[in-house]
Amino acid sequence: MPLTLSAKYLEGFIAPHELDRVTTQVNAAHKLMHYAKLGTEPGPGSDFLGWVDLPEKYDREEFERVKLAAKKISANSDVVIVIGIGGSYLGARAAIEFVRSPFYNNLKKDTPDIYFSGNNISADYINELISICEGRDVSLIVISKSGTTTEPALAFRIFRDLLTKKYGADGLKDRIYCVTDKARGTLKQLADAEGYESFVIPDDVGGRFSVLTPVGLLPIAIAGIDIDAMMQGAIDAREKYAECDLENNDAYRYAALRNCLYRRGKSIEMLVAYDAAFTQMAEWFKQLFGESEGKDGKGIFPASAIFSTDLHSMGQFIQDGSRNLFETVINIERPNQDLYIESDAENADGLNFLSNQNLSIVNRKAMEGTILAHTAGGVPNIILTLPEKSAYEFGWMVYFFETAVAISGYMSGVNPFDQPGVESYKKNMFALLGKPGYEDLRAELEAKI
Ligand code: PA5
Repeated sequence: MPLTLSAKYLEGFIAPHELDRVTTQVNAAHKLMHYAKLGTEPGPGSDFLGWVDLPEKYDREEFERVKLAAKKISANSDVVIVIGIGGSYLGARAAIEFVRSPFYNNLKKDTPDIYFSGNNISADYINELISICEGRDVSLIVISKSGTTTEPALAFRIFRDLLTKKYGADGLKDRIYCVTDKARGTLKQLADAEGYESFVIPDDVGGRFSVLTPVGLLPIAIAGIDIDAMMQGAIDAREKYAECDLENNDAYRYAALRNCLYRRGKSIEMLVAYDAAFTQMAEWFKQLFGESEGKDGKGIFPASAIFSTDLHSMGQFIQDGSRNLFETVINIERPNQDLYIESDAENADGLNFLSNQNLSIVNRKAMEGTILAHTAGGVPNIILTLPEKSAYEFGWMVYFFETAVAISGYMSGVNPFDQPGVESYKKNMFALLGKPGYEDLRAELEAKI
């Protein structure tokens, strides 16, 4: 099984009847998620349920075009800059680090280096990226569903200017690719006017649910990852998580268990893995769960840690601090390549007790010891086991978490598919920067600074 859930370490934290008592909410959430198929009433955000059937209904012709573009980009580029923010970059970055390596850019490889921009407004970050591009062939992928988000729009302006100087206006058609809404938005208009190849983010798939659309597919394919296998993972997961059955549907079970823990006052979830390749996947998870559930004064705060690294920073708090958190542990069963620890005749470091075995066994024992210590310290642990870090696993895991967050959000009565809170900072930023139309707010804010 590509992903299995164990609730073994929840014993003593949740009584069996608690799970039974949220079954009604799980059933109701299932009906909202599958309202079109079941002929039931739609719920809030029902226009954004396109991700549910995406693994079955994705545009095959566009999928092939993504592969062709990836091939062309790989052939003519040393560096690819993926410009996007939030759901428009996190999934691709997560896949590249999870399936290939957190050291992807430093690997010996026949695919381009991939950098991400447009996800911050730091002058140093962009200047350093510009210098990385010096003397190298560069392509841009600009991703924005709305086509109007300030951070990626600004980065695109800067890097398009750079490429214009390097290749001339005529050369840009071979080096700029846009992923955006099919009809609306500035980016779509620009792509059409300038003749840049463009790919579509379907109307009914929100940003943070879009990694299996060209948003994720194009950068992931450029990194040399098998996107057919990735989609197959999602296709199989969709089949597995289609029924409302808490015994056999681990995505629903995960949502229900989180809900029970939340009712017990566990308002922080720490997603934990014992492999740095999961770092960006955890960032993707935090956006997915944070933006989907954190609203109307409700929601579990999503946090993350990589162990054993963070046991030496966050470990004290987890073991011994406020008892308002639970952990979801990602247990990856097999490394891509293990490392055998040889015995040392002198044993000057006293580490021979670790020798004559693979490093992954030491990591496993660290995990087992930590789970026991943390549960003994009052931190419930949910365990999600994955056999390996493959493209197939990635696709499966994406669908698992998307399903879980939709059920979880609907269970707590929020719209899992909007993000109204993200607008507040934008309004203030525009006002303070003097964008036309924000004059009154500017005066109000400046008086407070
Ligand atoms: O989940 C979402 O919709 C958001 O996080 C978006 O992905 C993010 O705000 C970027 O938006 P856009 O793709 O429109 O630039």
